[in-house]
This record gives sequence, C-alpha cells and structure tokens, in this order.
Amino acid sequence: MLHLCVPVCLALAAQYVSGVSSRSLYPSIFTPYPPLFSAIGAAQDKIMAGVPVPLARHAAVVAVLVLAAAHGALCGHVEFAVARGSNANAPSLPPVANVTGAAAAPSSLVGCGCGPAPAPWAFLNAKLQALWPVIQAFKKTITCDPLGVTSTWEGPELCSSYFNGTKYKGFYCDYPPNANTTLTVASIDFNGFGLCAPSLTGFIDQFPDLALFHANSNNFSGDVPDLTHLPFFYELDLSNNNFSGSFPDTVVPLGNLLFLDLRFNRYAGAVPPPVFALTVEALFLNNNGFDGRIPDSFGSTGAKYLVVANNQFTGPIPRSIYNTSATLSEVLFLNNRLSGCLPYEIGLVEGLAVFDAGGNEIAGPIPLSFGCLRDAEEINLAGNQLYGQVPDVVCLLAKNGKLQNLSLSENFFHSVGYHCMELVRSRVLDVRRNCILGFPDQRPAIECAAFYADPSKHCPFIPHIPCDLPGYHHPAAKAAATVPALPAPAVEHGHGHRPQPQGQGGGN
Ligand SMILES: *[C@@H]1O[C@H](CO)[C@@H](O)[C@H](O)[C@H]1NC(C)=O
Ligand SMILES: *[C@@H]1O[C@H](CO)[C@@H](O)[C@H](O)[C@H]1NC(C)=O
Ligand SMILES: *[C@@H]1O[C@H](CO)[C@@H](O)[C@H](O)[C@H]1NC(C)=O
Ligand SMILES: *[C@@H]1O[C@H](CO)[C@@H](O)[C@H](O)[C@H]1NC(C)=O
Ligand SMILES: *[C@@H]1O[C@H](CO)[C@@H](O)[C@H](O)[C@H]1NC(C)=O
Ligand SMILES: *[C@@H]1O[C@H](CO)[C@@H](O)[C@H](O)[C@H]1NC(C)=O
Ligand SMILES: *[C@@H]1O[C@H](CO)[C@@H](O)[C@H](O)[C@H]1NC(C)=O
Repeated sequence: MLHLCVPVCLALAAQYVSGVSSRSLYPSIFTPYPPLFSAIGAAQDKIMAGVPVPLARHAAVVAVLVLAAAHGALCGHVEFAVARGSNANAPSLPPVANVTGAAAAPSSLVGCGCGPAPAPWAFLNAKLQALWPVIQAFKKTITCDPLGVTSTWEGPELCSSYFNGTKYKGFYCDYPPNANTTLTVASIDFNGFGLCAPSLTGFIDQFPDLALFHANSNNFSGDVPDLTHLPFFYELDLSNNNFSGSFPDTVVPLGNLLFLDLRFNRYAGAVPPPVFALTVEALFLNNNGFDGRIPDSFGSTGAKYLVVANNQFTGPIPRSIYNTSATLSEVLFLNNRLSGCLPYEIGLVEGLAVFDAGGNEIAGPIPLSFGCLRDAEEINLAGNQLYGQVPDVVCLLAKNGKLQNLSLSENFFHSVGYHCMELVRSRVLDVRRNCILGFPDQRPAIECAAFYADPSKHCPFIPHIPCDLPGYHHPAAKAAATVPALPAPAVEHGHGHRPQPQGQGGGN
C-alpha cells in the first residue's frame, strides 16, 4: 500500500487545442471533448444521435497543466503534460511522508463521517491527504453508480492512475506549476460513468490544483460551484447531465476557461451576455432550452467553435458576428427560432469553415459577401425563408475553394447562379423544396406565389462584396442584373432594396 515515489518525466506533448484539426467538430452526446477536436466527419446527425468515441486521451494523457495560467496570461498556449509513470523500471524510493507543507494532523480527516482515514504517512503528500475526505464525502452523496467506479475510491492512493494502478478511477494527477515536486489531483474525468449526485458543490471546488473537470454523460444536477479560486482551471464539461434552471452564472467569472460544454442538459432562459466574452476556444450550449435573443455581445467571443444549436433562441443572428473574424471557425445556429434577415456581416468572418443556421426562420437573399468565405467547407441554410437567386459567387466557393456541402433546401429560392448548376448535379448543392422553375422536387407554385407576395418576408439586398474575387468583376452591375429578378407573381416592391420586415437585419 506504500507508494513508490517515481521521478516522472513530463513529456510535453499533444497540443490538442492549438493543433486541432481544421475539419469539423459536431458535438454529440457521447463524444466528449478531446475526441471532438480530432473528430473528422461532417455528420450533422451527430448532434442528435451521438456516436460513442473511445476516450483516447486519458489512456495516455494523465493530466494537464496550464503552464501560463497561474497569472492569467493564457492565450491558447496550453500544454498537455503526458505523464508516463513507470513503476516497473523506476528505482524504488522510500515512502514519503511530510513531503510538503505542514504535517497534516489526523484531526483534519475527521468530519466527513466516512470511516477510518488511512494513516497520514500513507499518503504521498499533505495535499492528497487533504483531498481524501473531500472524495469520501462526495462518494456518500452518490445515488447511482452503474459501473461501480466509486468502489475504487478507497485507500490513500489517490494518484493510482499516475502509476497505472486501478484505484480512484476518474482522478488524474500531475505536478502543479507552482509546486512542481508535489503530485496532486489535476484532472477529474468522469466521462461516461453515469453517476448520479445532487450537487458538485463541496467537491470539485475543493481541489485547489484542478485544471479540468469532465463529466460527460452522468446524472449530476444542482448548481455549478464557484471555481474562481482554482488558478489552473480551464476546462469544464458538464454535457449530457441533469442540470436545469437558468444559465450557471458561476462560470461567467472564470477568466482562464478555454472550454465550456453545457450541451444536452435542461438549462433554460436567457444566456447572459458576458458568456460570449469568455476566453473560451470552444463553447457548446446546444440541446438545452435556452431562449431569448442571442446577445449582441456575441461578437466578443474569441471562440473557434461555437454551438448554440437545438435551443429556442429567437431574433436575428447578431451583426456583431463580423467581430469574430479573427477566430471563429465553426458556428452552429441550427434548429432554433432565429428570424430576421441573414446578415451581410457573416461574409466578413473569413475563417469560417462551417456555418450552419439551418432550421430557423431566417429571411432574405444570401448576401454576396458570402462569396468571401474562402475557407467554407460546409454551409447549411436549409429550412429557412431565404429567397432570390442562389449567388454565383457562393457556388464558386465549391469550384475554386473548399466548399463541399451547400444545403439550401426548404427555402424559397427562385433561381441559381450559373456555376450552381454543376453543383446541383454533383450533389454539393441541395436546392430541393424551393421555387426554382424546371427543377425537380420544388414547392407548389401557389406556395411560392404566396411567399413572394408577402412583403413582411422581404429583406434588403446588399450586393457589396467585401473582398477580391478573382474572375468576378463589377459585382454591383452583376448584382443589379440578377437581384430584382424575382419571378414573383405578385411582388409589391419590385426593386432591390426592399423594406425590412419586422426583424432587423441582425441586431448589431
Ligand atoms: C503506464 O502506461 C503507459 C501507457 O500505456 C506506459 O507507457 C507506461 O510504461 C506504464 N507504466 C507502468 C508503470 O506500467
Ligand atoms: C512527519 O510529521 C510528524 C507530525 O508532524 C512529525 O512528528 C515527524 O517528525 C515528521 N517526519 C518527518 C520525516 O519529517
Ligand atoms: C520547479 O520549480 C523550481 C523553482 O520554482 C524551478 O527552479 C525548477 O526548474 C522547476 N522544475 C521543473 C521540472 O519545472
Ligand atoms: C440519468 O438518469 C435517467 C433516469 O434514471 C436515465 O434514464 C438516464 O439514462 C441517465 N443518464 C445518464 C447519462 O446516465
Ligand atoms: C434530475 O434532477 C432533478 C431535479 O432537477 C431530480 O429531481 C432528479 O432526481 C434528477 N435525476 C437523477 C437521475 O438524478
Ligand atoms: C469585439 O470584440 C472585442 C473583444 O475581442 C470586444 O471587446 C468588443 O466589444 C467587440 N465589439 C463588438 C461590436 O462586438
Ligand atoms: C450536407 O449538409 C446537410 C445539412 O447539414 C446534411 O443533412 C447532409 O447530410 C450533408 N450532405 C453530405 C453529403 O454530407
């Protein structure tokens, strides 16, 4: 039962965050965070269905240190320490007691009512000794444990996994940056454990060196504890649990947070504007019951991956989205109740690889600015109230760029640009259930006529193209030629600049 204190080489490796695949990431219930960043595969359905992904990371990656985090100087330079303990080959050292700090008095262990504590000297250090009652007290609150993991939470070997042992499943240790000789719990990963507990308060907030907490697919509920006093904390995954109520305000002040995943819970109500000012690289709020407008602070987000899909958000996509152009790569608005006109400003977010606003009530023509999305691989606008011509400049993104999937079905487009024809044939472009004469599988003419006759659906058309498009000259002239060509049987304002409908184009 004595630990061997093994000198461990911390191989700095695996830049999961900064070296992420540029390909898509579709969070699913059973796809916890690390695989997300390497996940390839554009399956929209992963948002709904979920494909179990093996937890590769924790086989090898024991814990994570944010080397620069201590003083908040953190900007994507996360380094993952891969600890490779090797009991087998390492020299045996004497058991260590009193290694750091004050010698813990046995009395510090009483009070959780969790049976006799191991002797103080049995712990590697005083930090671990102090964590023992925290874990035991939490263990007593657990009401279901289908995999029996909590039966391994006994004895003094809290860092068992560091030495490839089998005790304390879910707890991972490393040396914190400010005490680099003291092994302590740096990461708690309960992904897929299915544990039930009414609260995490008094548990994760009691691990002073905790860097990440992953709890995908458990049944935790209650409030999210205040973690502001944890200097290294940067990754919080509470996805697919039993959390409810309003947005957990306690996460808002977490200045070092890089990853926040609240998807697949039962949160409801508005998302506080400061959430979009968090420093996170990835923000997943999908599959909850959030409602209200997406705040204009949206433009402050520094996230690379941002998913608000499958909620009840209303109002327009904020025009402030232009302000995310330095960082935003994949954004999923799909399946909400968003309305208003499709903002021109989306075309300014040059690094967008995935833009998905399908299944909303967004109106208007596609702004020609979308032709500037040179990195776009997937654009989904299916199931909205878009109309006009599918712009040639957007279809050219497939010919000259990276676009592989342009989903525009279930809208009211009346025609497609010249280069779009071949995309329809190659099935990159889906324009089923629109109003395109002569195309198969379109809406009934009467439905189209009614739509085009309704001025409340009309948005201004902005022909400006805010970038140089090779081979595309005189955008204004060309736009003028194509835009007013609404074939609409009963258009009331037959010019390009239509009165705005009830919703503004996109807030600001
Ligand atoms: C622990 O597991 C890692 C990864 O499989 C391995 O490299 C290392 O040698 C193992 N250490 C011991 C003590 O078995
Ligand atoms: C460990 O702590 C105990 C209790 O404070 C003390 O009596 C003992 O001398 C310490 N041992 C070492 C090796 O420091
Ligand atoms: C540990 O910390 C000491 C003092 O802060 C420093 O001199 C030393 O280089 C550190 N060692 C490692 C491996 O980081
Ligand atoms: C949470 O508990 C409910 C009710 O017991 C169960 O149906 C569900 O599968 C559990 N969820 C997880 C992720 O374990
Ligand atoms: C889910 O949370 C509710 C309270 O919001 C609680 O009554 C219920 O027991 C929880 N379910 C599980 C399986 O823990
Ligand atoms: C743009 O983003 C910065 C932070 O990157 C923020 O301070 C500013 O308020 C944002 N402006 C708008 C209009 O969103
Ligand atoms: C294209 O995207 C749509 C909507 O996201 C999706 O339903 C469809 O399966 C995708 N098509 C291909 C070939 O990936």
